[in-house]
Amino acid sequence: MKIRFTLQQRLLLWIVVLLVILVGAIVFVIQRKEASIIFEETKSKGVLIARNTADRNLQSILAFDVDQIQRQSEAQTDESLLYIVFYDRYATPLVHTSLIADQPALYQNSLLQGLIDPNEIAAETRDILIEGGAQEVLEVEVPLFAEGSADKWGSVRVGLSLAEMRETVRKTRRALLWIGFGGLLFGLAGSTLLARQIVRPLRKLVEGTVRISRGEFTLRIEPQSRDEVGELAASFNDMTEKLQAARREAEEAQRRLVQSEKLAQIGRLAASIAHEIRNPLTSVKLNIQKVLEDSSLPELEQEHLFLSQEGIAQIEKFIKEMLNFTRATELQPAPFAVEQIVEESLKMMRDIFREKEIQVEKRLDKSLPEVVVDGDRLRQVLLNLFRNAVEAVETGGRIVVSADLAEDRAGRRLRLHVSDNGPGIPEKDWENVFEPFFTTKSWGIGLGLANARKLIELHRGTIRVVHKRSPGTAFEIQIPIASET
Ligand SMILES: Nc1ncnc2c1ncn2[C@@H]1O[C@H](COP(=O)(O)OP(=O)(O)OP(=O)(O)O)[C@@H](O)[C@H]1O
Ligand SMILES: [Mg+2]
Repeated sequence: MKIRFTLQQRLLLWIVVLLVILVGAIVFVIQRKEASIIFEETKSKGVLIARNTADRNLQSILAFDVDQIQRQSEAQTDESLLYIVFYDRYATPLVHTSLIADQPALYQNSLLQGLIDPNEIAAETRDILIEGGAQEVLEVEVPLFAEGSADKWGSVRVGLSLAEMRETVRKTRRALLWIGFGGLLFGLAGSTLLARQIVRPLRKLVEGTVRISRGEFTLRIEPQSRDEVGELAASFNDMTEKLQAARREAEEAQRRLVQSEKLAQIGRLAASIAHEIRNPLTSVKLNIQKVLEDSSLPELEQEHLFLSQEGIAQIEKFIKEMLNFTRATELQPAPFAVEQIVEESLKMMRDIFREKEIQVEKRLDKSLPEVVVDGDRLRQVLLNLFRNAVEAVETGGRIVVSADLAEDRAGRRLRLHVSDNGPGIPEKDWENVFEPFFTTKSWGIGLGLANARKLIELHRGTIRVVHKRSPGTAFEIQIPIASET
C-alpha cells in the first residue's frame, strides 16, 4: 500500500529535514573552527613553552650540564605539558623527562634534522600511551641558537596533551547540539503553526469547492491573509459570485423561455376563442337588447336579462384582455419625467380612491432625472398595481407610491415602489402572482401582474414583491436608465 501524506505532513517533514541539515551543518562548521582555533592556540603555547625552556637552559646546554637540565625540566608545572626532550647539535637526545623514560620511540628522533633556520618550528600530533592510558599529544620542537652564533646548538621538544582541547570541543559540541535540539523543537512548533496557517484556509477552499459542486453558490470564504492563499480565497469568491450570476441568468433565461412559450399558447387559444365566440356572442347581445326594448316585459324578466348582459360584458372583457395580453408589444420610448407618469396614473384612479376613501402618499425624489421609457406602458403597469392595491385594502386603506434612483455596479436604475396596508401576499406566492391566470379573486382574470411583468421586462427591468416592515404588500420596479439621461 502506498502511504499518502497530507500537505501539512509533507510541509512539516520538509521543514524538519531542512532544520536537521541546517543544525548539523552549523554544529559541524563551528566545531571544526573551534578545534582549529584551539589547536593553533595549543601550538603557540607549545612554541612559547619550548622557547622559554630553551632560553632558561641555554647556559646549561652550552656547558653540557645534563643534571641541571634534568632538574629544571622535571620542575615544570604546566598541567598540559607532558614531557620535554633536549637534543644536541647532532639531533641526538640529550635529556628527556622521566615520564617517557620507558618509551624511547618518543624521544629518539628529533623533528628538526640537519641544518635549519632559527625560526623554523616543527609541530605534529600523535597518539601515545602514558601511564597506561592513550593520549593525543601535540609535539612542538624549536631549534636552539646561542646569541651571535649562526650554528644550531640543539633543539627542545615539548609534548602537550590535547585531552583538554578535546574536552572543550566535546563540551562545545554538546552545547551546540542542545541549542540545535531546542531550535529544532522551536522550528517544529513554528512550522506546525505555519503549516496549519497555510493548510487551514486551503482545506476551507477544498470544502468550499465540494459544497459548490453540490450547488451552494452563495458560499463565501473570508480571506484571512493578504498572501497567495488570501488571493486564492478572493478569486474563489469571485468565481462563486460569477457562477451564481451565471446560474441566475440561466434560470432567468429559462423562465423567460417558458413564459414566452406559455404566452404563445395563450395567444393561440385566445385567438381561437375570440374567433369562435365573438359572432354568436354579438348576436346574443343584440337579441337581448331587442327583447329589452319591449317595455311591456315584466320587471323580473328584465332584471334577468340585465344580468345576462353583464355576463356577456365580462366575457367580452376577458377576450379583450387575453388578446391584449398576448399581442406582441412594441415600446415607444420617449423622455419622460417620472413624476408626470406617476401623477397621471394617480389622476386616472382618483374616483376609485375617493370611493373607497383611500389615503395616497407620494414620495418622489426631487432630483429624479428624465427617463426614456414608454410612458403609456409604464402608466399601465402603475394602474395595474394601484388597482390591485385598491382591491386588497379595506375602506380607508393606505397606498404609498415612491420613486428614487438606485446606483451600484450594475448601473443606474429608476426604482418605483407601490405598497399598501392590505392583507399581503403569502411569501410562497411572490413569484406565482406574476403567472398568467394566477388569481385569488372570484372576478379576476389573473393577467394584471403578468402583463405588468411583460411590460417591465420589455424595458429590461424587473418587477417583484419585496419585504415590507408593516403588514401589507410592496411591489418594486427597477428600470435601468442610460447614464447620460
Ligand atoms: N396588492 C395586493 N395585495 C394582495 N394581493 C395581491 C395584491 N396584488 C396582487 N395580489 C394577488 O395577486 C394575484 C394576481 O394579481 P393580478 O393583478 O395578476 O390578477 P387579478 O388582480 O387577480 O386579476 P386581474 O387580471 O383582473 O388583474 C391576485 O389575485 C392577488 O391574489
Ligand atoms: Mg389585478
